Amino acid sequence: MLTDCFINGERIASDSGAEFSVRDPATDQEIANVPLLTKHQVESAITAASEAWPAWRSMTAAERGELIRALSSLMKRDAERLALLMTREQGKPLAEARGEIAYATAFLDWSAEEGKRIYGETIPASSPDKRILVLRQPVGVTAIITPWNFPSAMITRKLGPALACGCTTVIKPAEDTPLSALAIGALAAEAGIPPGVVNIVTGEPEMIGDVFTTDDRVRKLSFTGSTEVGRILMRKASNNLLRLSMELGGHAPFIVFEDADLDRAVASAMGSKFRNGGQTCICANRFYVHDSVHDEFVARFSRAMSELRVGIGTEAGVDVGPLINDAAVEKVEQHVQDAASHGATIATGGSRLRLNGHADRFFAPTLIDGMTGEMLCRREETFGPVAPIARFSTEDEAIALANDTEYGLAAYFFTRDASRLMRVAEALEYGIVGANDAVPSTAQAPFGGMKHSGFGREGGKYAMDEYLETKFVSWVL
Ligand code: SIN
Repeated sequence: MLTDCFINGERIASDSGAEFSVRDPATDQEIANVPLLTKHQVESAITAASEAWPAWRSMTAAERGELIRALSSLMKRDAERLALLMTREQGKPLAEARGEIAYATAFLDWSAEEGKRIYGETIPASSPDKRILVLRQPVGVTAIITPWNFPSAMITRKLGPALACGCTTVIKPAEDTPLSALAIGALAAEAGIPPGVVNIVTGEPEMIGDVFTTDDRVRKLSFTGSTEVGRILMRKASNNLLRLSMELGGHAPFIVFEDADLDRAVASAMGSKFRNGGQTCICANRFYVHDSVHDEFVARFSRAMSELRVGIGTEAGVDVGPLINDAAVEKVEQHVQDAASHGATIATGGSRLRLNGHADRFFAPTLIDGMTGEMLCRREETFGPVAPIARFSTEDEAIALANDTEYGLAAYFFTRDASRLMRVAEALEYGIVGANDAVPSTAQAPFGGMKHSGFGREGGKYAMDEYLETKFVSWVL
């Protein structure tokens, strides 16, 4: 297993010899130690990216595309190894880890092609001897900070477009899941991506965040993580007026109207809520179900939940793995206890599952009926396998409840009425709206939020704008 960082095409240990341990969330056993790089080493990764930039940006889009596709092919070749590594460090069921590798490579494949379609413009000028040209040029050295919940896809969703646009990169993966990132670094070298174009650094997050936001050779920072950390990075980045993309927290509402196809709504609720054990920024966090179908929906949803198998992600047939760490389980527990103390009914689950020989991080899929405004689960991201449900009686009420949050990442609703479908999609203040669909993510569509869920888009042609400058050339003939 590769545990070195990757700077300027070389495998790097920490100059100070310091390391931190990576643990399997299912067993809490140590699986690896990775470098706590020094500040100087992080700066040397930025030096490598700066020095590699002129040659990388001068290549044709087709040449860059070929190298990006080569990385994708190697990830596909090694999919089983990468999926197993991901399950070990992150905990998600192996089938989901395999799915994530496919999802991750889709961003590389898409970007490799889309890089060929970065078009400029000519604009009719105001005098006959002038020409107006608009050029799209790479922003430059790009710092990337990624979360632990999707250890591979959140890297490639940024790396693909950054590379395709001609930017070079320094990537800091989450401390809980650095191994998937280090494996991608090694594959980037094997793919023939030149030294310095992809650098991977691990270590103390605050120090690395400081270096990324204060070194003026860094021209762009793309971050996925919590709203709280996003705010801190934004403040730090303000001195350098650093260009930012922020994919932050969410609190997705899931609305079931009286005319919904209930089979589809229940299956979609399961897919959204229990993907990655509910540790997904876009997963449904609070359910609003019309009075007339509430009891039926709760009964079916609760039955489906009780059939889920919770366990270690590498075991066959497991649907929900462990939560990432102790703090995560404690938060989920706190949300459930808080809801119960405010009068909610815990219809299914409600507590940890103590599996012999494993860490105490498994939580039973939980249905909370009777969610109200004062409950923590109504206001904060739970990030666990918990589904709180409330009733509503009118469309306007459902929309108002759904929009009553500081977040604006994803929202879902289920209806068979076509005019309601458009009306509600337009009224929801969210960057991603699933209409009769609760698994919207795909490489060719724009992913990102509004309000405190951040700004910037990843995926599809929209991702390219994040890594390009627009230059106006005014030319007198
Ligand atoms: C996320 O949790 O932000 C990623 C989810 C996705 O890409 O579908």
